[in-house]
Amino acid sequence: MKRRERIKIAIQALKNQRLRRDIRAFKIAAVMYPYFAWKIFEKIGLDSILKTGNTIDEICKKTEIKNTSMLEYMLDLMVGRGVLSFSKGKYKFINPPDEFKKKDEEFLKSHYPYSWEWTMKLVKNAEKALLNNQKFEESGFESDEGLRLWDGIMSEAPHSFRNMAIKTCLRYVKDGSSVLDLGCGGGIGLEIFLLLCKKKIKLYGIDGSKQSLNRAKKRIEEIYINVDEALIKQNIEGLELIKRDLRKKGLPKDTKYDVIFLSIVLNHIPKTELGEFLKELRGSLKKNGVIVIYQLIHKSKFERVPMWVMELIPTHKEYPFKDQYIEEISQIFNNIEVKLDGSIIIGKR
Ligand SMILES: C[S@@+](CC[C@H](N)C(=O)[O-])C[C@H]1O[C@@H](n2cnc3c(N)ncnc32)[C@H](O)[C@@H]1O
Repeated sequence: MKRRERIKIAIQALKNQRLRRDIRAFKIAAVMYPYFAWKIFEKIGLDSILKTGNTIDEICKKTEIKNTSMLEYMLDLMVGRGVLSFSKGKYKFINPPDEFKKKDEEFLKSHYPYSWEWTMKLVKNAEKALLNNQKFEESGFESDEGLRLWDGIMSEAPHSFRNMAIKTCLRYVKDGSSVLDLGCGGGIGLEIFLLLCKKKIKLYGIDGSKQSLNRAKKRIEEIYINVDEALIKQNIEGLELIKRDLRKKGLPKDTKYDVIFLSIVLNHIPKTELGEFLKELRGSLKKNGVIVIYQLIHKSKFERVPMWVMELIPTHKEYPFKDQYIEEISQIFNNIEVKLDGSIIIGKR
């Protein structure tokens, strides 16, 4: 096959994206996670306590639950799904959750095997986490097991939305631009930049996890072999991978970027550090530089990202809440543009 044809096929595969499939997966997750939460409530007897209205404190007193933030997340999610009502601080049962159907389970298992495996592992530990505040150490980005799953997951469910965000980044690049994928993980975002970019840019990937960067390096080498090194090099001036803990050291001081891209990274930054972190990013942008953030967010207290199991993961600090987070970003960046209902935010220096 001719080299142009090969690259056309690779790009077409990206363009066709699995958008509809990914949206379906999110819709299934919105049913599945409250359903699993309810199963745990039934197991620990919380379903009968919720027959009358109770505050979070009252629930904790009547049960063994120690992890109040996880409890609140689960309860709020169920209010959003019409399982519970919430009035004057009290949660009360109104309707059983929607059934999680076998055909949806089969769909997830076949199209999203890593996300499925990971969810099942976390759900298995969820009862302990809720009762004893226990965390799930395997899910760090440094452990082989955690990384194997993460790398797989990051190529699964949020894939199409990350592609959209990367296409947004590409609107702002020109020949000679420096583009940073911050918290690049196993390099899936870098791969998409490599395949879609039509300008001669310099790409950087920064991540705190050495194992993730090793995966990114391998992934990139494979694209160079499988797609076409010469063609990619026509567009990419260079690609540099840098290991750095952003919370400890911030960004390297010697490089400024035209575009900084973050995909599902802000949830690893504690809320109290977010303002300083965003200022640091602004300081690393060139004049007229742009930041593009792709982030899963809670739309409101009761419209949450369904994955309450994230509360088990030590590196995960909390998904941001939409309004607060947009407000914080708009204090630091100019001309904020909000897309995908807050999941993609573009700001200028
Ligand atoms: C959920 S993954 C997202 C990976 C990638 N951006 C993607 O969309 O597939 C979050 C990434 O942020 C990195 N990360 C989290 N906290 C970090 C920190 N303090 N310094 C550097 N990287 C960090 C993790 O190592 C991980 O690779």
